[in-house]
Amino acid sequence: MTVLVTGSAGFIGFHLSSRLLERGTAVLGFDNMNPYYDPALKRARLKQLQATAERTGTSFQLIEADLDNRAAVEKVFAAHKPEKVVNLAAQAGVRYSIENPAAYIQSNLVGFGHILEGCRHHGIEHLVYASSSSVYGGNTNLPFSEHQGVDHPVSL
Ligand SMILES: NC(=O)c1ccc[n+]([C@@H]2O[C@H](COP(=O)([O-])OP(=O)(O)OC[C@H]3O[C@@H](n4cnc5c(N)ncnc54)[C@H](O)[C@@H]3O)[C@@H](O)[C@H]2O)c1
Repeated sequence: MTVLVTGSAGFIGFHLSSRLLERGTAVLGFDNMNPYYDPALKRARLKQLQATAERTGTSFQLIEADLDNRAAVEKVFAAHKPEKVVNLAAQAGVRYSIENPAAYIQSNLVGFGHILEGCRHHGIEHLVYASSSSVYGGNTNLPFSEHQGVDHPVSL
């Protein structure tokens, strides 16, 4: 089985990919390696993922592309035929969403739309994606739940 993990060079995507490789699941990574924080850290994570794949006899391959590139996302689904998808590629950060909303619109709205279309047209068994706790705004009921209201988000 191959799992497509977008944002595989990022904080959560790297740790998830490591866990999947450790249990013998092939990972197809997708990341644009953007400089929102030091890309050298992202490159170091990719090196570690390659080493883990070699040690565990599975495979890790990175597609370096942008989620907002519809053709690139479509090609990943058509050529690699992943069974499951975890979408963790996103422009993260709450304050920066107010400063530079365009980055969020392209990655988190347009890009996520391309992921949804890829899943729809290629019969993906399961899609998991990360949102942001800021969708719950000032809600203080913990733990957060998908059933709580999201009418007053604090980020774009
Ligand atoms: N880290 C947290 O505490 C936390 C908490 C709540 C929600 N989240 C959500 O989880 C997700 C992942 O967070 P993270 O902390 O791993 O962030 P991160 O910034 O470390 O990782 C995101 C990765 O996605 C890549 N990326 C960004 N835009 C892209 C695009 N358009 N195309 C391809 N790749 C792109 C980046 O290069 C980066 O490697 C985000 O949606 C974030 O909002 C994170």
